[in-house]
Amino acid sequence: MENNNNKIFIHTYGCQMNLNDTEIVKSIMIEAGYEFVDKIYKANVIFLNTCTVRENAENTVHNAIKNIYQIIKKRKYRSVVGILGCMAEHYGEKMLLYTNIVNLVAGPDEYRKLPELIKCCFENESKVAIDLSNKETYNDIIPVRDNSISAWISIMRGCNNFCSYCVVPYTRGRERSRPMNIILHEIDLLVSQNIKEITLLGQNVNNYSHNDINFPKLLEAVASTAPNVRVRFLTSHPKNMSSGLIDIIAKYDNICNYIHLPIQSGSNRILEKMNRKYTADHYFSLINKIREKINEVSISTDIIAGYPTETLKDHQATINLIKEIRFSSAFMFYYSPREGTKAFNDIDDVPIEEKKRRLNEIIELQNKISNEINRNKIGTQYSILIEGSSKHGNNQLMGKTKTFQTVVFDNIENKYKAGDIVTVIIKSATSKTLKGFIIEPTIKEE
Ligand code: SAH
Ligand code: SF4
Ligand code: F3S
Repeated sequence: MENNNNKIFIHTYGCQMNLNDTEIVKSIMIEAGYEFVDKIYKANVIFLNTCTVRENAENTVHNAIKNIYQIIKKRKYRSVVGILGCMAEHYGEKMLLYTNIVNLVAGPDEYRKLPELIKCCFENESKVAIDLSNKETYNDIIPVRDNSISAWISIMRGCNNFCSYCVVPYTRGRERSRPMNIILHEIDLLVSQNIKEITLLGQNVNNYSHNDINFPKLLEAVASTAPNVRVRFLTSHPKNMSSGLIDIIAKYDNICNYIHLPIQSGSNRILEKMNRKYTADHYFSLINKIREKINEVSISTDIIAGYPTETLKDHQATINLIKEIRFSSAFMFYYSPREGTKAFNDIDDVPIEEKKRRLNEIIELQNKISNEINRNKIGTQYSILIEGSSKHGNNQLMGKTKTFQTVVFDNIENKYKAGDIVTVIIKSATSKTLKGFIIEPTIKEE
C-alpha cells in the first residue's frame, strides 16, 4: 500500500522560530503536492521539527520517535520518518544511528530540498542534509498559517552571539536579516487576511540590520503599515536594546507594551562567563528607562539556575535582582550542558540536585511576585484580543491583554468569537491567569 505517500504529518517542538519554520515547511510540501494530516497513522511521511536547546527538549523527541515506531512497525510498506530542525543540525547522521526508523535528517537551512529528499528515502535510501547557509531566509515562501488571528514573521535567522551555554548559533548558523520590503509585503498580505496580531521573530531582534534599516526603523514601519494590528516582537538582547527602540514602542499604540528581555543571571561574574556582554547594572538602567517611557509595561525574562561555578553568592544576586525588578513572568531553567558549546568544557561543580534546588527557589519567588502583580489588577479594565475558547470549556473564552497577559472570561450569549476585541474587568487572579467578565458595550481599541 503506497497510496498514503503524499500524506504528511508534522509535529513541532521548541521556540516560535521553529513553529514558523514548520509553516514554511508546510508551504514547500503543499507546493510539491503533499497533503497534511493530523494523525501519524494516516501519513507515510512523518516529520518531527525538533529542538535541542536543553536535554529535556531532546528527551521529548526521543519519546516521540519511540511512539512513531510503535505506530509504523507493522507496516509492510516504507514510511519516511524525518527529523528536522535543531536536533537534526546538531546530531546529523547520528540521528540515523540512534534509531532504526529515522531515514531523513534535514537542518533548518535545507527545507527547500525536502520533496527531493523524500523521493530518495522512498527508494530505500537514507538522506542527511545539514548544510547551513549564510543567505537562506526563505524570502519567497509564504508560510502556511493555521492561526487566522495571530501570525509569526521571522525577520531574521541565525545567531552570532555565542552565549557560552547555547547551542543555537551552531544549529541555526550565522545571523541574516530579511529585507524590510519583503517583510512589509508579508504584512500587507496578512492585513488583507484580517489578521489581528503579528509577532516579529529573531533570536536577537535588536541586531536586525538590512541595508540602512535597523530594528527601531523596521518596527516603526511595521506599526504604521498595520495600524489596526497588535505588534509584538521576540527576543530582545539587553546588550543591544537602544533608547531609540524604547521610544518607538512608547510612540505607537499598536506596539504592545510587553518586552521579553532575558537576564539569565543577576551575577556579573556569571554574566561574563556566559558571554552575555552586559552587567546587572546595565540591565537595571534599561529596565528603568523602559518603565519611565512606556506606560503600564510588562517585562518578562529568562533565567538559568546553577550555571557552572555558580556560588551561593551568585545565586543570591539572581534572587535579589528578581526581587528588585519584579518581572511579570519568567521562563526559568536549570543549566543543561550542550555538547559543542564553550561551557560544555568548563568544570561544572554545581551538582544537579543543587541546580534543581536553586531553580525551585527562583520559581517559588517568581510565582509569588507574579501572583502579587496579578492580584493588583483585580478591578481594572483591559482590552482583550480573544484567541479562542478557554481550555476550561463551558462557554469560556481566553485572550490576551496588550501586556501579553492571559485572561479567561465567560462569553455572553455566544456573541463573541476569536479575533474580537472586548473590554474585560478583572475579578480574580493567579500567578499565571486573570479571570474576569466582559463589560458591554465593548469599546473599540484605539
Ligand atoms: N535568543 C534568545 C533565547 C533563545 S533560547 C535570547 O538570547 O534570549 C531560550 C532560553 O533558553 C535562553 O534565554 C536561556 O535562558 C535558555 N537556555 C539556552 N541554553 C540553555 C542551556 N544550555 N541550559 C539551560 N537553559 C538554556
Ligand atoms: Fe543563544 Fe545567546 Fe543567541 Fe540567545 S543570543 S540564541 S541565548 S547564543
Ligand atoms: Fe530550540 Fe532551535 Fe528554537 S534549539 S529553542 S528550536 S532555535
